[in-house]
Amino acid sequence: MADGAPGMADSLAGTEFAFSSQDFDQIRTLLRQHTGISLSDAKRSMVYSRLARRLRATGRSSFSAYLEGLRTSAPEWEFFVNALTTNLTYFYRESHHFPILADYLKRKAAERGGQTLQLWCAAASTGEEAWTLAMTAAEAFNSLAPPVRILATDLDTQVLATARQGLYRRDQLAKIPEAQIRRYFCEESEGQYRVRPELRALVGFRQLNLLDPAWAVHGPLDAVFCRNVLIYFDRATQLKVVERMASLMPAGALLFVGHSENFSQGQQNFVLQGRTVYARCSG
Ligand SMILES: C[S@@+](CC[C@H](N)C(=O)[O-])C[C@H]1O[C@@H](n2cnc3c(N)ncnc32)[C@H](O)[C@@H]1O
Repeated sequence: MADGAPGMADSLAGTEFAFSSQDFDQIRTLLRQHTGISLSDAKRSMVYSRLARRLRATGRSSFSAYLEGLRTSAPEWEFFVNALTTNLTYFYRESHHFPILADYLKRKAAERGGQTLQLWCAAASTGEEAWTLAMTAAEAFNSLAPPVRILATDLDTQVLATARQGLYRRDQLAKIPEAQIRRYFCEESEGQYRVRPELRALVGFRQLNLLDPAWAVHGPLDAVFCRNVLIYFDRATQLKVVERMASLMPAGALLFVGHSENFSQGQQNFVLQGRTVYARCSG
């Protein structure tokens, strides 16, 4: 700004609401403190466009008024967090993980005499990953009632609502083999497919913030999928989350992470077992 008002000099030009560096920094700080998500400078216009919708919805005329209101509104806090998460996911994403999971589940079930195996899908987004785990288990045991239970959690309540429905358009099923679509989905209406009830019985969805000091998750967990979420956290937070997961996992349990999430250094609880798959060490 010509008057050199602090923080206004680099407002996004030509936008409906003024958006200063201070506004952006305040949003980043709030989000990082509560969710662990670190936003780079490059996310500034994304933050603007996602939150401008919330300003309109709440009738606020500026970011500072919106942020002031946020401090005292728990419902708006949920909208704020939901607006700023990145939820990209799809069925059989990073597909090299699933044959490893299938072999592991069969081996573990044999060792345990068929006892139910516990899986945690820790950033489930709209559900595709959790349903992929359920299909993998059903295929591994050639049964719609495999000895597996899946806890699927996410911070974002809106994506969880979609996940719980288990309802997807035909194009969203593109990565699933045709025979599996027939086995595990029912066509509910034109182009809309719902996960079969037998598979839905295997998965429970629940909101969980990985940054919360207490997790309502009970070990021992046989496998944890924590994929493409740690990437949003700084290194110290990543290591803390992974360490807490380790405390819920017995020796030999598997941790699956995303393609750019690497834990070979900085922690002693896991040993690399395959591409982005780690096994819990003993001790
Ligand atoms: C890019 S999606 C990854 C989805 C899936 N795991 C996959 O790999 O396809 C990241 C998910 O992490 C969730 N997330 C971000 N921060 C979180 C936190 N602190 N606790 C729990 N979930 C979080 C987001 O809401 C989002 O749905």
